[in-house]
Amino acid sequence: MPTPHHNLTIGVFDSGFGGLTVLHDLLPLISYANYIYLGDTARLPYGSKSRATIVRYALSSARFLLAQGADLLVIACNTATALALEEIRADLPIPVIGVIQPGAQAAANTTNPPKNRVPHLRDSLTVAKVGEPPQISTEPPHVIVLATTATIQSHAYAQALKALGLEATEKACPLLVPLVEEGWTNHPVTAEVLRIYLSEALATTPHATTLLLGCTHYPLIRPLIQSTLETLGHPLQIIDSAYATAQATAALITTQLPNLPQSPHPTQTFYATDSVEKFQRLGSSFLGQPLNQVHLIDLGG
Ligand code: DGL
Repeated sequence: MPTPHHNLTIGVFDSGFGGLTVLHDLLPLISYANYIYLGDTARLPYGSKSRATIVRYALSSARFLLAQGADLLVIACNTATALALEEIRADLPIPVIGVIQPGAQAAANTTNPPKNRVPHLRDSLTVAKVGEPPQISTEPPHVIVLATTATIQSHAYAQALKALGLEATEKACPLLVPLVEEGWTNHPVTAEVLRIYLSEALATTPHATTLLLGCTHYPLIRPLIQSTLETLGHPLQIIDSAYATAQATAALITTQLPNLPQSPHPTQTFYATDSVEKFQRLGSSFLGQPLNQVHLIDLGG
C-alpha cells in the first residue's frame, strides 16, 4: 500500500529489452511519474514457451514490481499480455494494462487503405462504374498481425481485432526476436527473413490494409519492414502498440488513480534478471537514451 508521501509510480514489465519501446513512449506522455522497469532477461524469450511457463514467469515479474511500490502495472510484453493478462489482473491489487487491446484499437482507428497501393478487388473502397458514386464495401478492413509463436497461438490479437470489427491474418515470426537481440536491425539476413515472412502472409491476404507489429522488438526494425513491404508492392499502414499503450495508461491514471501525487523529481529505476552490462548496452538502443541505475535481481527459474 502506498505511504502518505508516495508519488505515482508506474511498473513496466517485459521479458527483456523490448518493453523499453513502450517506456520510450510513456516517458514524454506521463513525465510526472516514477518508473520501475523490469526486464526478465534471464528467462527471455517468452515467445517460444508454453502458456504455463509464461504465466509463471509473468506472475513472478508482476509481483516483484508490486513489491517495489508500483501503483499501476504496464505489461509491455505482447506474449505476457496474450497469455497471462487475466492471471496477473486476478493476482495484483493494482490496475494492470496490457499492450494488445490498445494495439488492436490503434489498428481499428486507422482503417483507411494506404496510398500508392495497387487496388485489390476486396479493398474497402471499390472502383465505381462510370456515372455511379464510389461503392463502400461492407467487408471489414483486414489486418496482418506479426508476433511471437506463443502470441499467435493464443489468438489474442485476432480476438481483440474481431471484437472491433476487423479481420486478422496472424503470422508467427520466431526468428525476428533473436535477430533484433543480435543488433541486426538493418542487416541483409533480417531483410531476407522479413521478406519471406511478409510474402507468406501477403500470399494468403493480398487485400490486407494494415500491418500490426504485435511484438515489442518489431518497432526496432520498422524501417526495414516498411522498405520490404514497398519492395513487395504492398506499402501497408504499419501500427505498433507502444504509443497507444502509453495513451491508454494516461487515461487509466486519470480515471483510476486521480489522487496520487505527481513526482516532483521523477526517477527511473531498472531491474534485469541477467547481465546488467548487456541490458545497458542493448537497452539504450530500445529506449533511445543511456540506461543508468540498472540492478541485477534473481527471480528464480
Ligand atoms: N517481449 C516479447 C513480446 O512482445 C518478445 C520477446 C520474447 O519472446 O520474450 O512478445
